[in-house]
Amino acid sequence: MNSKHPLLLFSLLTPMSNLKLLPILFLLLLAAILAEAQEFTYQGFHPSGAGNNPNLTLNGVTELRPDGILRLTNETSRLIGHAFYPSPLRLLTSSGKAVSFSTSFAFAIVPEYPKLGGHGLAFVAAPDPRLPGALPSQYLGLLSAADNGNATNHVFAVEFDTVQDFEFGDINDNHVGVDLNSLASNASASAAPVNLKSGDTVVAWVDYDGDARVLNVSISSTGEKPATPIVSFRVDLGKVLLDEMYVGFSSSTGLLASSHYLMGWSFRLGSSGGNNGAPPLDLKSLPSLPRPKQDGNRNSTTKILAATFSAFVGLVLLVAGGAYAAHRYKHRDVVEAWELDYGPHRFNYSELRRATRGFRDRDHLLGVGGFGKVYRAVLPSSGETVAVKRVSHGSRQGLREFVAEIASIGRLRHRNLVQLQGWCRRRADLLLVYDYMPNGSLDAHLFLDKSTSDADNDKQKQQLTWAVRWQVLRDVASALLYLHEGWDRVVLHRDVKASNVLLDAGMRARLGDFGLAKLHERGANPSTTRVVGTLGYLAPELTRTGKATPAADVFAFGALALEVVAGRRPIEPRAPPEELVLAEWAWERYAAGEVDAVVDKRLAGGGEEYDAGEVAAAVKVGLLCSHPVPAARPTMREVVRFLDEPGEVPEPPPPPPAPPACSGEVGFDDFVHSYPSSSFEPVVGGGGGGAGGMSYETGVSSVATFPYSPLSMRSSHVSV
Ligand SMILES: *[C@@H]1O[C@H](CO)[C@@H](O)[C@H](O)[C@H]1NC(C)=O
Ligand SMILES: *[C@@H]1O[C@H](CO)[C@@H](O)[C@H](O)[C@H]1NC(C)=O
Ligand SMILES: *[C@@H]1O[C@H](CO)[C@@H](O)[C@H](O)[C@H]1NC(C)=O
Ligand SMILES: *[C@@H]1O[C@H](CO)[C@@H](O)[C@H](O)[C@H]1NC(C)=O
Ligand SMILES: *[C@@H]1O[C@H](CO)[C@@H](O)[C@H](O)[C@H]1NC(C)=O
Repeated sequence: MNSKHPLLLFSLLTPMSNLKLLPILFLLLLAAILAEAQEFTYQGFHPSGAGNNPNLTLNGVTELRPDGILRLTNETSRLIGHAFYPSPLRLLTSSGKAVSFSTSFAFAIVPEYPKLGGHGLAFVAAPDPRLPGALPSQYLGLLSAADNGNATNHVFAVEFDTVQDFEFGDINDNHVGVDLNSLASNASASAAPVNLKSGDTVVAWVDYDGDARVLNVSISSTGEKPATPIVSFRVDLGKVLLDEMYVGFSSSTGLLASSHYLMGWSFRLGSSGGNNGAPPLDLKSLPSLPRPKQDGNRNSTTKILAATFSAFVGLVLLVAGGAYAAHRYKHRDVVEAWELDYGPHRFNYSELRRATRGFRDRDHLLGVGGFGKVYRAVLPSSGETVAVKRVSHGSRQGLREFVAEIASIGRLRHRNLVQLQGWCRRRADLLLVYDYMPNGSLDAHLFLDKSTSDADNDKQKQQLTWAVRWQVLRDVASALLYLHEGWDRVVLHRDVKASNVLLDAGMRARLGDFGLAKLHERGANPSTTRVVGTLGYLAPELTRTGKATPAADVFAFGALALEVVAGRRPIEPRAPPEELVLAEWAWERYAAGEVDAVVDKRLAGGGEEYDAGEVAAAVKVGLLCSHPVPAARPTMREVVRFLDEPGEVPEPPPPPPAPPACSGEVGFDDFVHSYPSSSFEPVVGGGGGGAGGMSYETGVSSVATFPYSPLSMRSSHVSV
């Protein structure tokens, strides 16, 4: 079944054949197979170089540059680029065994943002050089959600992946993987010390030994083939490949984008066993990529050129007439509904600027968060109201947080999570577009603001009935459960707090602000070198170990639950000293059998109807979650169950005695120490979670909730 040619030959020969022709037939067959044992070399892909005609099948956005470099993608989002050898190769022998082959190629990946690739490049063998149905982004232009993993694909690929896709179990954002019919690699290895997305030329070798059934992949940034491969994978490609396969390359971009370039390629088929590898590529004679110059001179020249050019374009547009420009502009900017369905969307900067009237604080500012201001915007194209978060210029973490946010929230969908609609970057301006939550954040309702009028306060109080508060807790719990368990990887929120809980038109809660969320592989050691969070919601062990865990999110949820019941902040400097830290005060009251003392006076005394059983359950859940010992806290799944059946919540265990180091003020010193002085500079990139590399980001978000000096003045050093 795997040899169409013999059948074809046979049918051609049959009319005039007799048995004597059979040996000839076999000879022909042998010759055909030997003829397929071929090799080719592209030293650059020059359009008309002698003997080096880049006779390739290009698909998608792949283009041949005049300098002989093949560009598979540019830095636009969600592109696919393919380049294949034009004729199929016979990769199986007539007995169905995969033939040995070796290939070597030189490529470069130049990401749009210096350290963030998107998405990668793959060497592919596939039955169809158009790879029909393939998707960009994490699918690398190879497969799609529908056919990923299906054995009928017959797609073999070696991926050079620059994004860690948890969906496919990627090990990091700089790895080489062997993919058999699936983007979930069957073997993979970190590319380090080679940095795939450095923009430098990387040479890769893929060698398959058909007799030993071993596939080796090597990479190098010097052009010297390393002595040992980084991946050596025992696999029978005969089970994956078809008789006739096209070989080539595929690349894709996603929300994040890189230009993927190919400078040279050689391939040798056959000669198993003593296969001495693909014809060598001469790195020096390959076309090289003009390096983007980082130095100031070039930069400012570019800027001047760009400025001159845009001034010129502006003038031309002006001359062309306002009406025509407006017409064209409108058509270019239209955001169609299907695009919104298609994952996070890249918005046009000028659209967002217009939508917020130039980011006017007076009418459009909704609030100031940890990393920037949030504006209300009305999209001119659709009339839809959205919230635009503008990540501030000054933020050290600006770009990084931005990308963490789009990469994680962009693919999370849950009715209790604030949905990211899209994003936009303009120079240092990073803009995130979210669903607009007309009722603002929970804290504004919970802690009555002295600056608003009594009438407003009454209105808010009316809205925040017990039924609403109870629903808020259930909504947030279900959002956290989704983050912790709804994916095949644990997503930690890390900054659960009232100001990150937003209320939609129906007063249903949605959890927002994933700027700090990091993804953690389940089962892997979730150690981290930075503690993120907000004072009062930080689990005590976080400040000691620096390890973010689901239990730390549960702790923060406990603080939120107590807060919702008590109607006060987790740390309230205006309260009497023994009530300063809500969780500890609640534990004390609980130990003394006076849990009712914790309940919001507005609920207890205001004559409002409330379900005493639910309130008691919420207090118990709050206490269980705020337990100082992480292992004693319930999981979010248990919390959701408790909130479903308030009668079934177990009694919280008695709190353990205070740790000796913090005599008298349990946990309090931890809270204090977690709050940095403004002069504390984080050590970025400290390896391995050592105490020396630990840094705190709490200050940024703490300032809004905790502007009182007595505590922060005592925290000029951090002891961990
Ligand atoms: C990238 O290529 C696509 C398709 O060829 C094109 O529409 C787009 O403008 C290009 N983007 C850049 C930044 O050159
Ligand atoms: C390009 O490839 C096709 C198919 O293999 C072949 O027929 C054609 O002769 C090649 N052209 C050149 C210029 O090499
Ligand atoms: C695999 O693909 C084939 C052909 O497209 C299809 O018939 C089959 O249902 C697919 N199998 C799965 C598990 O999706
Ligand atoms: C490769 O991985 C896929 C999906 O993870 C699996 O179904 C398949 O059996 C693996 N193949 C080999 C040869 O290991
Ligand atoms: C693959 O790598 C192993 C280990 O270095 C080596 O023994 C083997 O010869 C290699 N095979 C091929 C086909 O390169």
